[in-house]
This record gives sequence, structure tokens and C-alpha cells, in this order.
Amino acid sequence: MISCNKRLEAIPFGGLYEIFGKANKLERQGKRIIHMEIGRPDYDSPDFAKEAVKKALDKGQVHYTDVNGIEPLRRAICEKEERRFGLKYDYETEISVMCGAAEAIGVIMLSMMNPGEEIICPSPFFSAYREQAIIAGVKLVEVPVLMADNWELKIEEIEKRITKNTRMILINSPNNPAGYVLNKENLEKIATIAKENDLIVLSDECYDEFIYGQEHVSISTLEGMRERTLVVKSTSKSFSMTGWRVGYVLGPSNAIKYLNKVHQNFSTCVTAFAQWGAVEAFKYGDEFIDNMVKEFKRRGDYLYDAFTKIDGIKMIKPKGAFYAFPDITAFGMSEADFCNYLMEEAGVVGVPGTSFGDYGKGHIRLAYCRSFDEIVEACDKVKEALGKL
Ligand SMILES: Cc1ncc(COP(=O)(O)O)c(C=O)c1O
Repeated sequence: MISCNKRLEAIPFGGLYEIFGKANKLERQGKRIIHMEIGRPDYDSPDFAKEAVKKALDKGQVHYTDVNGIEPLRRAICEKEERRFGLKYDYETEISVMCGAAEAIGVIMLSMMNPGEEIICPSPFFSAYREQAIIAGVKLVEVPVLMADNWELKIEEIEKRITKNTRMILINSPNNPAGYVLNKENLEKIATIAKENDLIVLSDECYDEFIYGQEHVSISTLEGMRERTLVVKSTSKSFSMTGWRVGYVLGPSNAIKYLNKVHQNFSTCVTAFAQWGAVEAFKYGDEFIDNMVKEFKRRGDYLYDAFTKIDGIKMIKPKGAFYAFPDITAFGMSEADFCNYLMEEAGVVGVPGTSFGDYGKGHIRLAYCRSFDEIVEACDKVKEALGKL
């Protein structure tokens, strides 16, 4: 009988995909379902990127590439980072292209952390963080970020969790699932703690483009932070390329070379023709991004206005990413029961907040990356269903 290692036993089966599976089953039975559980934009990937993949295939770009990514892609990414965010990284030594941000985060944990060391992470957080920490044999220490505090990160909450084993702070702004954005002042405080305690900062900036009404600031740009920060980004959300599996890490060369050791032994490189397509996305995709983000703002604004009119729902307007994370405690149901009720009664599928860490309690997450018409329909149906309780 084959058994898994002891660490994996701490990771439950199913999670988000269990909800997805149940929703799909109801859909097959003929029920109208609005999928707001999965965080993937409803847009197709840009045509010019898809065309470039076809050409790459015809030209035989089907073999292993450089471990850290093909040179044209590394160049195109670094140019885009400088053009849109003022980040300056050397395409030869300070970037590695990985199989999505997911691989990048796992690789960072495996290459930078020693077993038993601790990562401090504001909670709620993207659920894979916890599971990747388990896989890497390290401890994720949750720091509460609460809606009652306007989703403000309280620096003293980080400070009091620092131990001799703390090695990394993992931040995610704009945030999945809470929709908050860390401003420069917050980031300065995190930077001070990182410098005082000699910590690495893993900054997951996958939603850098999805920001409404303010500027995205990367902690790597603050004084003394470039050398201790690993910035993770992805094509998944910005270019609606979730299935392409193209993400990347920007960081100091003395860290990137070690990440490549792990990446090389896990995946060798990202799929060759996907990389060639991604080159075009980084070169010519600015307008695509801007149009999509404008539309997402319209959807988020609509959802916020509609939800805050529903008795019992409390919510803060998302400043970034594309998730609503309302407080549902007034209904006196568990997060899972609430999601099941919405799925069965309204056909609207959300995720229990507890999937995003201990401090997701009392919330559900609804991804508003569905069409505007679906958002309108979902809001009406949720209102009607909750009115029956
Ligand atoms: C905060 C965050 N980080 C990383 C990822 C993983 O993205 P990728 O598709 O690039 O692996 C996601 C995906 O939902 C995410 O929400």
C-alpha cells in the first residue's frame, strides 16, 4: 500500500475544486449556474499572442528552452515592467520565467527556506500559500487583516509574530481574496520590519494591473528592499492566459540563480511555444489590459452597489484584484452552508472565506470576472435568495 509523506496529510482533498465539481453537476442537471468561484478572467487570451504561438509551432519551437526563459521573453517582460511600473531588472540575471506564479511561489519556498522556518503572511490569503508551505516543510504564520479594520494591515500584528525562526514575509497586493491594496505607507512599515529582522520579502503582485483608482507600488522599489525582495507576477490574470502557465520572478541575481536550481529540476523550462506567444503579449498587450481592467472596474462597482443594498451583507469596495469578499455573519450560517444555499437557491457559486486562511472566517468570496450581464443576474438572484431567509 503506497502512502504519502506525513506533511501531505495536512492538506485536505478537494477545496475549491470540490465546489466547482458540485456546481458543474447541478449545471449538467439543467440548473442555471453563474460561476463566481474561480478567479479567471472571462476574456479570451489576446489574438496576437495566440497567433504567435501558432507561428512558433510551425517554426518548430517545440524543444527545451533556457531554464530561465527564452531571451526575447525575458527582454519583453523587463521592458514592460519598466514601462508600466518603473521596475528595473536585468533580463539576463534578474528574472526567471516559471510555470505560473504558482510554481514561482513554490520554488521560492523550496529554495529560500529551511525546514521548520516560518513565513509571516497576512490572512486571508491565496489558498495555495498554506499548501505550498506544507509541501516545503515550513510554517505559515497567519497575521489577521480584518474588514472591521477596513482591511488595514496592523504592523504590530506582524511584529509580535516574529520569532527566531522567521525568515520571510509573504505579501499579496492587490489582494486575493480581500481586494485591498497596500499603500506606500503600509509597505514602508513592512520594509522596515524586513530590514530590521533581515527577512526576505516574497511579494506576490499577480494582480498588479487590476487596481482601481490608485497606483500599484511594489515593495521592491523602496529603499534597501530590492536586494531582499522576490517579486512574483504572471500572465494568468493580466492577459487572461491562465492555461498557458507563464509566470515569472524578478529579484537579485544571487537569489534567482538558486531558484533556477529548483525550477530546472522540476520543470526544466516553461512550454516553449507558450513562451513565444507570451513575448507578443508583453510587447503589445497594454491596450488589452487597460480595456479589460476598465470593464472589471465597472463590474466591481455594480456588484458593490447592489450587494451593499442587501440586508445583512457588509462589504468594503474592492480597491484591486477582482473579488468581492462580503461579511455574511449576520445570516448565522457557516461559510460552507451559506455557499451551498446560494448555489442551490440562486445558482451563484462562491467560495467559503475559510478556504483563504483562519481570518477569512465570516466571509465568502465571489469572483466578479464574469460578464457584466452575469454579474447583474447574480446580484438580483442573491438578493432574492437572501430575502427568503
Ligand atoms: C494571489 C495569487 N497568486 C498566485 C496565483 C497563481 O497564478 P498562476 O496562474 O500564475 O499560477 C493566483 C491565482 O489565482 C493568485 O490569486
